[in-house]
Amino acid sequence: MLNAKKILLGISGGIAAYKSAYLIRMFVKAGAEVKVVVTPNALQFIGKVTLETLSKNKVYDHVFAEQNDYSTEHIALTDWADIFVIAPATANIIGKFANGIADDALSTSFLAFNKEIFIAPAMNTKMFDHYSVQLNMAYLEAKGVHFINSTTGDLACGYEGNGRMEEPEKIIKYIESFLESKAVLRGKHVMITAGPTYEAIDPVRFIGNHSSGKMGFALAEAAAELGAHVTLICGPVAISTHNPLIERINIVTANEMHLACKQFYKNADIIIMAAAVADYTISKPAEKKIKKSKGNTTLELTPTTDILAELGKLKTKKQILIGFALETNNETDNALKKLHNKNLDFIVLNSLKDKGAGFAHDTNKVSIFDKKGKVQHFDKKPKTEIARDIINYVLNIQ
Ligand code: CTP
Repeated sequence: MLNAKKILLGISGGIAAYKSAYLIRMFVKAGAEVKVVVTPNALQFIGKVTLETLSKNKVYDHVFAEQNDYSTEHIALTDWADIFVIAPATANIIGKFANGIADDALSTSFLAFNKEIFIAPAMNTKMFDHYSVQLNMAYLEAKGVHFINSTTGDLACGYEGNGRMEEPEKIIKYIESFLESKAVLRGKHVMITAGPTYEAIDPVRFIGNHSSGKMGFALAEAAAELGAHVTLICGPVAISTHNPLIERINIVTANEMHLACKQFYKNADIIIMAAAVADYTISKPAEKKIKKSKGNTTLELTPTTDILAELGKLKTKKQILIGFALETNNETDNALKKLHNKNLDFIVLNSLKDKGAGFAHDTNKVSIFDKKGKVQHFDKKPKTEIARDIINYVLNIQ
């Protein structure tokens, strides 16, 4: 479950910080990639060199540019990681997390992280039992943070009681079984199209569009996060995939995308067509570069196959087919027409009228229309979150 996972490990200043070294080793052994972010106090208990050697990555201990490569490191780090594990978490860092205080690299990263967070508390038993620590933990738990309960035993301060950080093996087991329980799409095959297609005019030029592929790639990651095997058929884009469950098929033209979809759709349980496929291709691309001549010129275009409409005719009862509609006007009418004409289970509409939606942005604002006439509008959000909303929508109709 941890293979190829990107784990951000946060370490705060407690004696249990020495156990973080074992934790890193175990994560790495399980195939995960680990980056470490520490509070200044954590470095009183464990050396940076140890953490860097074990994680094979540099340790982040400061939010300012002179210490790091660039000043928004905490954002880059949190975008990079799949999960965030804070072990050990002291009463102090838990208090900061619960109250939105961001005054060091670890607390700042916490505020910038919007995926699964696991906290393994470690502190003196009296501190652990204190109502304000209990209140902070209860608040964070209510907000969706996962607590890996501390255990009872001899504490480094000489006391006996609750507050001892859980052993690294058990922390790993906890995280693995959590990820296992989330893998609700394990055994399912999802086919996704993404990005633009390019239609050659001559060996140098092409007709393309502004699609960045970000929405389709975010969907692929969201489905793979839940354990699905994903076939991502994508046009020319400058993005890479992260999850090893994603099989990427690169194509260039609408015809190549059509052929790839025909090959893969049969085994797919869920098909999401997010690509901006060219509706026309050049009838006869020139073999040699076309030289400019005086006056106007004309290009003859031939319609491409509407891949989504074709899959709409071929789809079986077991398959779920989802289309996208990017519109500039009469949005709802156009989306509903596509939903019915192409025989879709639902269509995701985004309008270029909405700021921060559509091409190239990292955000999107969408509405989902389903075949039963239901509509759901979503707020403007990062495409990664929209992707999870769409996948959740699919899970709810299954
Ligand atoms: N689509 C497709 N093959 C095409 C054209 C579009 O699979 N040749 C899919 C897109 O991936 C998207 C949906 O059809 O899921 C709608 O695409 P869009 O470009 O919005 O609509 P069109 O059907 O092409 O109609 P128009 O361009 O006239 O709006």
